[in-house]
Amino acid sequence: MIPNMWYAVLESNEVKPGKPYGFKRMNEELVFWRDNEGKIVVMRDLCPHRQAKLSLGKVVDGNIQCHFHGFQFDRKGTCQLVPANGRNGPKPKIFQCWTYPVQEAHDFIWIWSGEPREEYPPIPFFEGLENHIYATFQKQWNTHYTRAVQGVLDVSHLPFVHAKTIGRDGKTLVNGPYTTLEDNQIQVWVSNQPDVGLPAIKPTEVPPPNTPAALRFKYPNVWQLWINDQLSQVAVFAPIDDENTMLYVRNYQRLIKNPILGRLFAQVGNIYNRYVLHEDEEIIVSQRPKKADLDVGERFIPGDRPIALYLKHRRDLILAAQQAETATEDAAEDVQHERFDAVPQAA
Ligand code: FES
Ligand SMILES: [Fe+2]
Repeated sequence: MIPNMWYAVLESNEVKPGKPYGFKRMNEELVFWRDNEGKIVVMRDLCPHRQAKLSLGKVVDGNIQCHFHGFQFDRKGTCQLVPANGRNGPKPKIFQCWTYPVQEAHDFIWIWSGEPREEYPPIPFFEGLENHIYATFQKQWNTHYTRAVQGVLDVSHLPFVHAKTIGRDGKTLVNGPYTTLEDNQIQVWVSNQPDVGLPAIKPTEVPPPNTPAALRFKYPNVWQLWINDQLSQVAVFAPIDDENTMLYVRNYQRLIKNPILGRLFAQVGNIYNRYVLHEDEEIIVSQRPKKADLDVGERFIPGDRPIALYLKHRRDLILAAQQAETATEDAAEDVQHERFDAVPQAA
């Protein structure tokens, strides 16, 4: 995981009020539930008493209640009741659940992959979809989410993997692609063409386009295929663990404004999208190692620029977060030393 980022991990409607739900995400067993106000809570799915799964319990009076001995914890993970100690008995502080910073936006649940802080950056989502109607499907892939992200930034696979669907026009020659990286967003302008014997134009030689980018990716795990102002697809690659990813694919449209018909229209589009995604799945889950990274043996062509850029910036973000952490630790150590130095020494 890239530290200190908002990861979309579930759709909002996967966590209904009134009971806890256990999901594996971000390499960890987690429990999701809603308090009395409907606010989402995420905790490690582990009771601090004797380590049973909290997701087997209930939501009672806005707290989560463990099924084993009935301990109750509030949304901050603080123990509010130890039944065996009596209603007014002690609730020792050691019974503290591990909670995560969490937000809900755009009908997704987002987990912060770092320490809690005062202020957070905005949720990384795409603008201009507020008045669209969407339909989602989900599919689990047996690979690390980095492979799935690479797959949707790959502009040279279409005539092969999708020879019968979106790549049937046989545009094997990859000009560019013109690719930008700004504010943790990669944008790719695709300009493939049939091979008529001309050399491919290098990414550095493609003139800057004056149209919106077709492919957009926001770190850490959200992607958009922009077709036009009326039609878009959005995919979230929710990390389950090192070998599994849950894909949420949404078809957004605003051609049909009636909510029921509009949703139906989006759902029908997803039948095709699901088929196309299945074509990707077969080949992408075959890639080894399952987790993509720089220097795991992949070799790139100019047309792979978006993929290489994705990996490089991912690495940069991880390194920057690690350096920031070391700097904080060093600063904390300095403070310790200063305190120590300030202690009057015995003569
Ligand atoms: S294990 Fe949860 S209350 Fe005992
Ligand atoms: Fe594909």
